[in-house]
Amino acid sequence: MKKISFKLGILFFVLIIGMETILFLSLYVSLVNDRIEEEMNQLLARGNSHRDVLETNYDRPTIEHVVMMESKAETDVVITDQDGNILYFSNNIFQTARKVTKSRTREIPHHGIVLQKNWENDSHISTVSPIHINHKVKGYVYMFQNTASLHTMIFKLKHHFLITGIFSLLLTIIAILFLSKVITKPLIRMKEATEKLSKGDFSVRLQVNGSDELSQLGKTIQTLANDLEYLKKGRKEFLASISHELRTPLTYVKGYADIARRPDIEEKEREKYVSIIYEEAEHIQKLVKDLFQLAQLDENTFQIDKETVNVCSFMSKIYEKMLPAFQIKKIRLIHHCDTDLEINIDLKRFEQVMLNLLDNALKHSEEGTTVLFEVIQEEKHTKIIISDEGIGIPKEDLPYIFDRLYRVDKSRSRTGGGTGLGLAIVKEIIEAHRGTITAESVLGKGTRMIITLVTS
Ligand SMILES: Nc1ncnc2c1ncn2[C@@H]1O[C@H](COP(=O)(O)OP(=O)(O)OP(=O)(O)O)[C@@H](O)[C@H]1O
Ligand SMILES: [Mg+2]
Repeated sequence: MKKISFKLGILFFVLIIGMETILFLSLYVSLVNDRIEEEMNQLLARGNSHRDVLETNYDRPTIEHVVMMESKAETDVVITDQDGNILYFSNNIFQTARKVTKSRTREIPHHGIVLQKNWENDSHISTVSPIHINHKVKGYVYMFQNTASLHTMIFKLKHHFLITGIFSLLLTIIAILFLSKVITKPLIRMKEATEKLSKGDFSVRLQVNGSDELSQLGKTIQTLANDLEYLKKGRKEFLASISHELRTPLTYVKGYADIARRPDIEEKEREKYVSIIYEEAEHIQKLVKDLFQLAQLDENTFQIDKETVNVCSFMSKIYEKMLPAFQIKKIRLIHHCDTDLEINIDLKRFEQVMLNLLDNALKHSEEGTTVLFEVIQEEKHTKIIISDEGIGIPKEDLPYIFDRLYRVDKSRSRTGGGTGLGLAIVKEIIEAHRGTITAESVLGKGTRMIITLVTS
């Protein structure tokens, strides 16, 4: 397995070195060309200035003076007549000069021209400036410069470039090593974190600061780890509560059965105990049924069979079903529905939702109060609201009532047969319909359950 830091490093290296090479090369070429051109211009300027002197004083002493000046300099001068015959020259330039002075063919402008440019292969570079006296060409001033000095200069330049190149190569390597470590370090930490997660260890702590994509990924992994840890804890707690929930009624069943089988107790008492056993068994049955249903709802493959129904006729059916129970407890049940809206729901499961919520309202309301359920159609949503005037839910319990096995008053709802699974099932079913349910409650005043379904 190749490390990501290695891959990144190589990629950066190739890119940066490529860029540096192009930059260095172009810089080098333009520098060399500039320097050579400057040398040639200087040579031509020198020739022109000799020519200017000779144009004002074209006599032997002046010519000799010019030649003498050049014999001390790095450059050389050759002076010819108008036909190219060499009259004077400085140093041992004669051989080279003869070739050059003979090969001239075209007219030369007064400001002179560069004759030999090929500094790389020729032994000299040279220029020529014509001497005009009374508008006639009197002769030519040739200037020569040995290319050896140019080669030395270029060699020095190359040397400088080489040193700078090596230096920047080293710097590049160091920078890349550092950068690829800095960039890949959080990635490696995230990899380790996800490995830990996959092994079931959710105690992952990723330090993330910043807001770039990598930090966001880190934060997402952290959230995932937290969620998983929370789920693991939740599952453990849930299992603990289930076994507790089952143990309590089973203890009753066992205890009362033990008493009931004694031969010395009265028949009436035995009947009492047997009916308690029956009630507890019923409770266990309901608990197991609810748990089984929740387990089914939990499965991701869980399917709901939706049908299109008229919301109001659905509500009146629920009303008919619940009315007797409310009448027995002398609680008024009102339903209000004023729309011809059709909704797409799983009839059986949605009926279960409504019965659960109305049953809760009924269980927690006193005689003489009213329970109202209504349908409100909004632009994009349909709301079903169930409100009661019952005992209400304490503020601190409100966030948990949809949790499994959560009951506000444990002892009270146990006698009412509650398992604390009703609202958890309700929530699962509504969410399977892509809806939401929320609860609002004021202690002592009443509770409102609000189901919101998306209709468009
Ligand atoms: N309308 C309400 N008024 C007051 N308290 C409520 C109301 N609805 C729910 N609760 C509280 O929320 C808790 C959880 O409700 P949930 O329906 O999940 O369980 P349950 O009614 O106790 O049991 P089950 O529905 O399985 O018979 C209840 O125990 C009760 O304390
Ligand atoms: Mg309930």
